[in-house]
Parts: sequence; C-alpha cells; structure tokens
Amino acid sequence: MKGDAEQRSMTDDRPVLRARGLVRAFNGIRAVDAVDLSVSAGEILGVIGPNGAGKSTLFNLLAGELLPTAGTIELLGERVERAPAATRLAQGMGRTFQIPRPFGALSVLENVMLGAQDHAGERVFANWLAPSRVHAAERDAKARAMELLAFMKLAPLAREPARVLSIGQRKLLELARVMMAAPRVVLLDEPMAGVHPVLVETLSERIAALAREGTTFLLVEHQLSLIAAVCQRVLVMAAGRVLVSGSPAAVLADPRVAEAYLGGVTT
Ligand SMILES: Nc1ncnc2c1ncn2[C@@H]1O[C@H](COP(=O)(O)OP(=O)(O)OP(=O)(O)O)[C@@H](O)[C@H]1O
Ligand SMILES: [Mg+2]
Repeated sequence: MKGDAEQRSMTDDRPVLRARGLVRAFNGIRAVDAVDLSVSAGEILGVIGPNGAGKSTLFNLLAGELLPTAGTIELLGERVERAPAATRLAQGMGRTFQIPRPFGALSVLENVMLGAQDHAGERVFANWLAPSRVHAAERDAKARAMELLAFMKLAPLAREPARVLSIGQRKLLELARVMMAAPRVVLLDEPMAGVHPVLVETLSERIAALAREGTTFLLVEHQLSLIAAVCQRVLVMAAGRVLVSGSPAAVLADPRVAEAYLGGVTT
C-alpha cells in the first residue's frame, strides 16, 4: 500500500473534484443548469449567489443526495455521479449540513467518533475474531477524536452531552465529525450562518488550517467578507448557472454579480 503522502503527491496535479455539464431539473425547471467546476488539493472554493441560485442543489448532487439529470462528477479521477452518498463518503467526500443535528444525549466526543469510517467495532466478524484489534482501533479513534476536538477548541466539552452546545459549537463539532473520516474534499453549506462572530473566526481559521494540510473545501456562504477572507477562488451562481468565477476581488467587483444579487431575492 502506498503512503498517504505519496498518494497525495501522485494526485496533486489532478483535480480532487470535477463536475462537467451538471444538470438537475425539478418538474422541467433546471435548478442546476450545465455547471462545470474543478477544485484541486488544498483549495477553498467559495460558491455564492442569490437565494434559489442552485447552490444547495449543486452540493446535493456532488454529495450524492440527488442524482443529476445530466452530467458527470469525478472524485479523485473516479466517476461517482451515480454512486450513493455513503460510497462517496468512503471515497473521500465529506459534507456538513446547514442545520447540524448532533445526537444530544451522546457526548461531544461520541458524536465526533461517529464520523469514523470503517470503524472496526462495527464489523461483527472482526469483533468476534480479534477483540483486541477492535479495542486498539477504538482507542485510536478516540485519540483522533480528542485531537480534532482540541483543534476545534472543544476539548473542555468532550464529555458533555452534545445538547449543551451552542449553534456555533455545533458547527465546530460537525466539522470535527466530518474530519474524522479523513475526507479529501468537504462541502460546507453555510457553516457560519447563525454563529457568534468569535466562533466564526475560529471556524474560518480551522478551515484554512485544514486546507493548508491538503483538504479541499467548497464553501457556500452569504457573508461575502468571509468568502473574500478565506477563499482563493469564487464561483458565482445565478438561476442554476455559473455566472462568473475568479478571485474574490475580481468576482466581487464584477457588475454582473451585483446585478444578479439585485435581480434575485435579497438575502
Ligand atoms: N427537491 C426539490 N424539489 C423541487 N424544487 C427544488 C427542490 N430543491 C430545490 N428546488 C428548487 O431549486 C432551486 C434552487 O434551490 P437551492 O436550494 O439549490 O438554492 P440555493 O442557492 O441553495 O438557495 P439559498 O441561498 O436560499 O439556500 C429553487 O428554485 C428551489 O425552489
Ligand atoms: Mg441553499
């Protein structure tokens, strides 16, 4: 088996995630209409646009919650547009939900551990044949979950039930849970919405730090100042299509973008 570092360097010149001609129609109306996109390792791509532009639908297509009407999706060079969400998760595609719903009665730590992929304890035969290996795997998962909680500044709350967390803390928990599966690309749909400014800063710092280590992010966010601060590239959607894409400065200065926001429902 190749080491992680070697595998990463082999794939660095290929896009981590690529979509071509992606279409999704609802009752004949194209919520996503011929979208092309490509992101590379460690990139943070902002996805913006007025309400109803198709941003969440695009994410649902990429993550596998919806099947496209047309078009292709490649994850690390493999075609996945027909693959179920669980398969894409196992292949390296993580996502967070706009409204995180942690298991309130479980501890913060246990919620993060639920994000682990291929957890040995869930395999009945492994359990029966090699209980010591299962214990070792669980110990490793716990250590990794604690590391992630410390990274998200949630370590002091590890043993509290998740229901005590604020909205912002739940979003940090959600990010820790997703990172437990060691994803290569993470889709974040409005992770900062309703979050206290202090935690917004923590969240954007953590996303930037994870990107520097090679994780790719797609970020839907309505606060354009946050997009400008954290993204290298921005894709603007309007009425299902990619209107423009480019650096945050170029995109935000583009008169077509202001027009799309004025023409759409205000946010
Ligand atoms: N399951 C569905 N059935 C029918 N229409 C849908 C469905 N999901 C989304 N749509 C429609 O597709 C369009 C795009 O919606 P989408 O939620 O992707 O927009 P968005 O850019 O995420 O908006 P917002 O910024 O408000 O979250 C909208 O017109 C919406 O009504
Ligand atoms: Mg949305």
